[in-house]
Amino acid sequence: MTTPPRTPATPEVPAPAPQPARSGRTVPPRQKVARRVPKWSEVRTLLQFEPIRPTARQRRLQRAVTVEDLRAAARHRVPRSVFEFVDGGAEDELTIRRTREAFDRVEFRPRVLGGAAVVDPSTTLFGRPSALPVVLAPTGFCRLSHHEGERAAARAAATAGIPFALTTMGTVSIEDVAAVGGPDAERWFQLYVMRDRGLTVELIHRAKAAGYSVLAITVDTPVTGQRRKDVRNGFSVPPKLTPRTVLDIARRPAWWLNLLTTEQLVFATIPAGEPEAHAAFIDGVFDPAVSFADLAMVREAWDGPLVLKGIQTVEDARRAADHGADGVVVSAHGGRQLDRSPVPLEVLPEVVAELGDRLDVLLDSGVRTGADVAAAVALGAKACLVGRPYLYGLMAGGEAGVDKVIEILGSELRRTMHLLGVSRIDQLDPALVRLRP
Ligand SMILES: Cc1cc2nc3c(=O)[nH]c(=O)nc-3n(C[C@H](O)[C@H](O)[C@H](O)COP(=O)(O)O)c2cc1C
Repeated sequence: MTTPPRTPATPEVPAPAPQPARSGRTVPPRQKVARRVPKWSEVRTLLQFEPIRPTARQRRLQRAVTVEDLRAAARHRVPRSVFEFVDGGAEDELTIRRTREAFDRVEFRPRVLGGAAVVDPSTTLFGRPSALPVVLAPTGFCRLSHHEGERAAARAAATAGIPFALTTMGTVSIEDVAAVGGPDAERWFQLYVMRDRGLTVELIHRAKAAGYSVLAITVDTPVTGQRRKDVRNGFSVPPKLTPRTVLDIARRPAWWLNLLTTEQLVFATIPAGEPEAHAAFIDGVFDPAVSFADLAMVREAWDGPLVLKGIQTVEDARRAADHGADGVVVSAHGGRQLDRSPVPLEVLPEVVAELGDRLDVLLDSGVRTGADVAAAVALGAKACLVGRPYLYGLMAGGEAGVDKVIEILGSELRRTMHLLGVSRIDQLDPALVRLRP
């Protein structure tokens, strides 16, 4: 019997001849990659193990690359009502979204080959040096975010060489904040003009005696904006024990333990008693009838730089200058008061053009990156205040978390300046920025 011829599993394919490349040129066939055994000395230089981070907090902070990363970490560290108190805004939160959208519309127009080998982001604010054009904004109830609250933030700001602004609604006293920063720290005091004018003047005197260098009067809060999340969460300071908060304790035991085992959470600067709901309490303390005429009283008590925080139009900036202010913060209060208020980044150029020679103009609301700071400074801001960013850091990791936020903002700013081709803050000018339509 003859066996049938074996058919190959795959038909024989002739080896490909060198193919002409698309250009029509003939290239030589590919060479086999020559391999070798690497030397240990070569491998050793590649083995760069991360130092072991012993604590969960250090690992958490190490992983964060942006302020947004710290926001995500913060969400898991504190009760929901606390996170939403910090993160949320007034009414429909349109202002929060719009302030962010404005920064998203920033387009840089860099200067290439500018020869900027070294970048120096330091600046001068009201005659005092600051390592960055960044100020930690006044934020009430700081110790809700982390039990070390203002102490941690003030120390981080002092370490970084930037100003920390303490609010009238602080949870650490004027004097205690001054003590943690040390004599060289830059501290600003933010004043709410209260119904009790005697108390208002007393606070100014205390701030002066404790070495605060700038007084910022917040002018955008005749009453508190409605933050719907706070209302729905039944948010109060101190937090009340309800079935929901008890459930929260189980989910965030470390936060609750710190709250209950450290000094009582109270307003440290104003006589507070036990506020029922914080918005109603604040409305009882603040004077909604405060007017430009009250600035004379403040001026009498304070001879240092005076800033109006919460200016939203060029007309009010002009009135601020006419009433002797040294600076204004163009601010939407982080979208926490009047929803649908003007977007600071859009108002800024007009205010600077009209009043930049009479006032130092600062900006806040929505600043989340060093590139945002660069854009605002290029459009004429002397500096940016940041509120939520450092509170996210505080929630995520206390003082080290605030250090991390300042480090992120600083390195982003330096990198942006390098890429824009500028080496000094005063070289950031409007020609470097376009707001996309
Ligand atoms: C939780 C929280 C509390 C605040 N409390 C105050 C305050 O007591 N006084 C004040 O002038 N501004 C207060 N602000 C507003 C900030 O000073 C700043 O204007 C705002 O946070 C800037 O916006 P940003 O959070 O997007 O950076 C507060 C902001 C937050 C987030």
